[in-house]
Amino acid sequence: MAEPSVSTAARLRIIAFLFAIRCTPRDSTAVTTAGKPSGTWEVFADGFAKVDPIVSVSDAVYRPMGISIGPDGSMYVSDSEKGKIWRIMFKGDKNKFGAQQLAAMEKEKSNSHIRMPDEINDNLDKDKPSSAAKLYDTYCRMCHQQNGKGDGARFPPLDSSEWVIGDKKRLINLVLNGVQGPIDVKGKSYDGTMPMHAFLSDNDLAVVLTYVRRSFGNAADSVNAEEVGRIRSKIQDTRSK
Ligand code: HEC
Repeated sequence: MAEPSVSTAARLRIIAFLFAIRCTPRDSTAVTTAGKPSGTWEVFADGFAKVDPIVSVSDAVYRPMGISIGPDGSMYVSDSEKGKIWRIMFKGDKNKFGAQQLAAMEKEKSNSHIRMPDEINDNLDKDKPSSAAKLYDTYCRMCHQQNGKGDGARFPPLDSSEWVIGDKKRLINLVLNGVQGPIDVKGKSYDGTMPMHAFLSDNDLAVVLTYVRRSFGNAADSVNAEEVGRIRSKIQDTRSK
């Protein structure tokens, strides 16, 4: 029997809404590297939710939520709709499980009621804003506002601001370090405090800075993670001197 492992759980998540009572001891190659699914997905359980595809989670008759593996290798799946706990275990002869059984399982994937997981179309977040917009929403919007125009008082605008569309290095420095004290933006003086954003990764900063340089009517060139990284290490060098 395969070792209890996170990768089994991860694979179950991929096929989260496919369910039938059939479990197999799986070849050890499919269950390896720490916490990451390393094999292809397989159907050992289907029809769990009784609706397919699930558009709204409330459509599911049973909705698998928690997963756990017992010492004997049984898999326990909890359901959040009816409060049921499912135990999935292999009932056959483990010693006789082999190539033929694996082939039969493989064949199951072609049954008409089995829907192949589709990473793009099954992603219910696919119509949500891009990660760039999400980063802006999370880290900048509360002050600079959704439309990037600031609030006209404490928070300066980012649209056609020289600080945003001008020199990239200055922009990267500003967002990494934050700003304090008087600053002129589009002919108006601000005297507030913007917190430092060095907690964001080089990549996230590059993405969000590219976003502000290209949104709100701005059309400046992009910022990449290497540019952010270079300036971050310069700042660190200066600090350690
Ligand atoms: C807590 C509020 C706050 C957050 C969050 C914030 N800022 Fe600021 N930001 C300010 C304030 C206040 C100033 C002006 C500082 C001053 O007066 O010295 C400023 C100034 C700026 C400036 C220079 C002036 C301008 O308007 O062009 C830029 C560029 C900027 N922020 C970008 C960002 C970006 C990008 C993020 C998100 C990663 C962000 N800020 C998050 C408050 C904030």
